[in-house]
Amino acid sequence: MCGIIGYVGKSSAAPILVDGLRRLEYRGYDSSGLAVMNGSSSLATRKKSGRLVNLKTLLTESPVAGNCGISHTRWATHGEPSDANAHPHLDQSAKLALVHNGVIENYQTLKNLLEKEGHEFVSQTDSEVLAHLIGRAYDNSEGTDLKMRLVSAVRDALKQVSGTYGIAVMHADVPGFIVGARLGSPLVVGLGKGENFLASDVSAIVSHTTNAIYLQDRDLVYLTADEFTVENVDGAESAYEVSQVDFTPEQAEKGKYPHFMLKEIFEQPTSIQNAFRGRLVDDQASALLGGLGLTPRQLRDVERIVLCGCGTASHAAMVGEYMIEHLARIPTEVEIASEFRYRNSPLDKNTLVFVISQSGETIDTLAAMREGQRKGHRVLGIVNSVGSTIARESDGGSYLHSGPEIGVAATKSFTSQVTVLALLALLLGRMRHLSVDYGQRLLREIRELPAKVEKILEQTDAIREIALKYIDAPGMLFLGRQFNYPTALEGALKMKEISYIFASGHAAAELKHGVIALVSPEVPSVFIMPRDSVYEKNVSTLEEVKARKGPVIAITTEGNTDLERIADDVIYIPEVTECLNPILSVIPLQLLSYHFSVARGCDVDKPRNLAKSVTVE
Ligand code: M6R
Repeated sequence: MCGIIGYVGKSSAAPILVDGLRRLEYRGYDSSGLAVMNGSSSLATRKKSGRLVNLKTLLTESPVAGNCGISHTRWATHGEPSDANAHPHLDQSAKLALVHNGVIENYQTLKNLLEKEGHEFVSQTDSEVLAHLIGRAYDNSEGTDLKMRLVSAVRDALKQVSGTYGIAVMHADVPGFIVGARLGSPLVVGLGKGENFLASDVSAIVSHTTNAIYLQDRDLVYLTADEFTVENVDGAESAYEVSQVDFTPEQAEKGKYPHFMLKEIFEQPTSIQNAFRGRLVDDQASALLGGLGLTPRQLRDVERIVLCGCGTASHAAMVGEYMIEHLARIPTEVEIASEFRYRNSPLDKNTLVFVISQSGETIDTLAAMREGQRKGHRVLGIVNSVGSTIARESDGGSYLHSGPEIGVAATKSFTSQVTVLALLALLLGRMRHLSVDYGQRLLREIRELPAKVEKILEQTDAIREIALKYIDAPGMLFLGRQFNYPTALEGALKMKEISYIFASGHAAAELKHGVIALVSPEVPSVFIMPRDSVYEKNVSTLEEVKARKGPVIAITTEGNTDLERIADDVIYIPEVTECLNPILSVIPLQLLSYHFSVARGCDVDKPRNLAKSVTVE
């Protein structure tokens, strides 16, 4: 949550910072701001609440010049979205500027202390306290090496705070110099020629450089245009690696699509293919997930699996639970990451824990991973973002290879997560009792998925028409069974997060246990009911909804025209084996929520109150 970009080089900083903020806006869009230094000991700050366009307007009216600057796009934690609460924040001397992601938990105690000393605060944020703390340490220090005085001041202040931070700091006394540090909030250094960058996400800098250092927790970095130093916040050496960013700037742009969400929905034939590419082993009728780093014996010894994630990732995990139990017969549980970290879940030694996360930075998933590791378990990651904290700290795992997902609503990451989980289930199944025949059939079906997804995407206009019919619906129900129970939850999450209507997902048979009270002519029910082993049961439930005059949108298997008699609208998906069905059935749900949201005039890519990556508790 929140995005940072800093620049030091020979170009004009403001346009680079604003372009970086545009790419980072998905991390938070309550306000934005920048501070720029022109090399002659003066610091110019501009900030504005609301979307980035407001900052751009301000910069047109009141431009800033300089080759070094820091900037921020905010997702509000402490203090409402306002100009005053926007970053950067200044210290008491107004010579030091700071941008901060994370939460300073003891900020009130520190603020009281500083106020007693005469410090005056202009915002309600925890971040401003950190700016004052660093400024005070700098002002109280001595020496002629101003750069090292600033570095020491940052160190000194960070020792006094508890909480999480990703920060960038500059001081008017030290032109062309930026200090950054991280604990619990991601920070990446971008290395250019005669210019360097600091950002919370590589997407902000990929159009300038593909050489990146993913900082680790408790790293501190200081940058000039030509040099950089990475140390530990305590001053000790810190090992780092220069990595190559694995995607192009174009991949992080909308291209011909009006929204990132639609682009990412349409990328799924490719992203699903990327998730299984090189991982299907025909001669063994199995899958290869080398990144797990487990020997066949270790895989054979797994007695229980725990899958952890948040939001959409937890829904993918639920599909994974059904698949692993179905194909490999290994008891599997899904734990919502935020619960797992506080619950004292009994895990025995042959339990394998997976954490699933698109961003690899979700704070609860990260904490769940560390809790699992603390208990001595091997924790593996199923992650999209290369170089993310979970990717680095997990004990192995599999990348999704989906490319950047920028739309706040997760789409392609879900289908890729389910694809990787299907490979895992196949691999574990083939180590146990799953037959060669069944394994081969699954490989064939997995290979056919991209073409089948294409066929569903061709129906986007028809799905839009359905969405328009229900545009005034005050709420929506999503119902599915077995493998498609998690899909129902995912469909409801998509609908509510981007359209702001009440939507809830249920195991279809639960309807009669309470949910049916919500059925009315105004509230459509979306049934996910392919022709599978529970199809007939779903038909009965559908009839019960129709008997109460509830409109029904049914998603079913191509060729099954029976439902046209009873459902108000039918969307067809190609036939696929039951356990892979969610990879297809979720696509119409994504399109339905997308078109519904657009028609209601909502901001699809930046839904209110949300941010792409939840890095604060
Ligand atoms: O980056 P992660 O996969 O860890 O994110 C988890 C959730 O925050 C995320 O899936 C969220 O629920 C999406 N906005 C849903 O569309």
